[in-house]
Amino acid sequence: MNNNDEMRNIGNTTIAGTTAPDLEIPFGSCLIEENPDPCMIVIVGASGDLTARKIIPALFNLYLNNGLSDPFLVVGCARTKLSDQEFRDKMKDALLSANIHNNSKWQGFSQSLYYQAIDYEELSSFKALAGSLRKLDIEHGMKGNRVFYLAIPPSLYKSTAQMLGNAGLSTEDENKNGWVRIVVEKPFGRDLDTAIDLDRSLHEHFGEHQIFRIDHYLAKETVQNILMFRFANAIFEPIWNRRYIDHVRITAAETLGVEHRAGYYEQAGVLRDMFQNHMMQLLALTAMDPPSLFEADRVRDEKVKVYRTIRPFPTADLQDYLVLGQYAAGTIDGKKVPAYRDEADINPESLTPTFAMMKIFLDNWRWQGVPFYLTSGKRLGKKLTEIVIQFKEVPHSMFRKTLGEHITANRLILGIYPDEKISLTFQTKNPGARVCLRSVTMDFHYHQNYTGPILDAYEKVLLDCMLGDHMLFWRQDGVELCWAFLTPILEGCETCDDRSKLLLPYESGSWGPEAIK
Ligand code: BG6
Repeated sequence: MNNNDEMRNIGNTTIAGTTAPDLEIPFGSCLIEENPDPCMIVIVGASGDLTARKIIPALFNLYLNNGLSDPFLVVGCARTKLSDQEFRDKMKDALLSANIHNNSKWQGFSQSLYYQAIDYEELSSFKALAGSLRKLDIEHGMKGNRVFYLAIPPSLYKSTAQMLGNAGLSTEDENKNGWVRIVVEKPFGRDLDTAIDLDRSLHEHFGEHQIFRIDHYLAKETVQNILMFRFANAIFEPIWNRRYIDHVRITAAETLGVEHRAGYYEQAGVLRDMFQNHMMQLLALTAMDPPSLFEADRVRDEKVKVYRTIRPFPTADLQDYLVLGQYAAGTIDGKKVPAYRDEADINPESLTPTFAMMKIFLDNWRWQGVPFYLTSGKRLGKKLTEIVIQFKEVPHSMFRKTLGEHITANRLILGIYPDEKISLTFQTKNPGARVCLRSVTMDFHYHQNYTGPILDAYEKVLLDCMLGDHMLFWRQDGVELCWAFLTPILEGCETCDDRSKLLLPYESGSWGPEAIK
């Protein structure tokens, strides 16, 4: 019987023989689900770094992939006085610096860019903006749909939301003809009280359905894939629990230092910068129960349930659950780098942590007793983001006479960066007459059999915001639960007398403080 004989058609269904072909993913078919309604993206803070490095490149790439609406407009506003043409020139330079070249397409895209200078403290300035937006709406047939993207320092979020509201810019058309959305970048506050306060201010003018709290980690393909991997396969869920899993390690290591963000980072430190948001999302995606539907609120409900089960740290014994570090001088990629305290604009006596490792327990049926180690730090040996699921050893080893007691346990790695892959390590027999085991690894590379374009995280969040899909955005209850867990820890390590003792130095280019090795 040849292969063709083995293939039988029953109705429309093809039953293959034992080996299924490795299917090519149809090019482009999954890239863009639908095009958004005509809309205007108003970038508040358009002369800043975020606009140039992330927002404009993301919008341009969406444009290149036909992912934007037609018509589509970007209105940049900031304190700096610029003409439309000057703004366009600046954005062209930004694209060139991001290595995005497409001269012929740039012409069309650039005609959608406008600029209006704004004074953040003047209501009249926001009212003038409202007038200009109305005019552009009419000229371009935009149907009144607007996204306000706050690309400004967090200290301006509250007042800007209020100004937008007072200038009538948060109001949605009663006939549902014209939606208004506001995009807020983390940090959402700096502790529980300030997060609640910020939310209250946003809600004075915007409904929850209008608020999009961004976490770019959620939009990474490999992070989105965690739910597909866990819940679109029947074989992992039965073992995804305390019976089979020994511990979980979630790591986000960076080689970058504080760069040009001293003002922000000195106030934030690694706990606010990475843990309150990205690390907590990775924890939730790894630990959550399956939602009944793949729908924004059902998914976010399950994440919130995880946050509710986090066991609070005993603040008196923080050091048993938390290691904090700060980078000292060292070498990264063969280049000498300075200590955190010697970086530009950093206080030479700074006690801001640039590294943290936490041991978290979830008090629920599935995870009781399983430690989740969350580690993130700057200036570490390598840029690496991954989730390691370490399974338990076999309960009984029938090989112990020949091999001794220890058989390496299975390990599953969900690689997020730089290796976008899933790999499973298991034991096999080494060829030969003697009984020997060896660990082998089965790898799936995310780009295997796919050569088409991929949406970068900012492209995905911008697109979802234009489509009104909240799935990849934080909901306020999740934000508050994470702050409720972290605030006592922050208070414990930021206000105590021996704060300097809690902070361990580590050499740049290493894997963190000696104490954890
Ligand atoms: C940001 C943090 O949210 O995430 C940065 O503010 C950090 O400090 C960055 O460098 C890491 O993101 P990524 O996508 O490079 O892992």
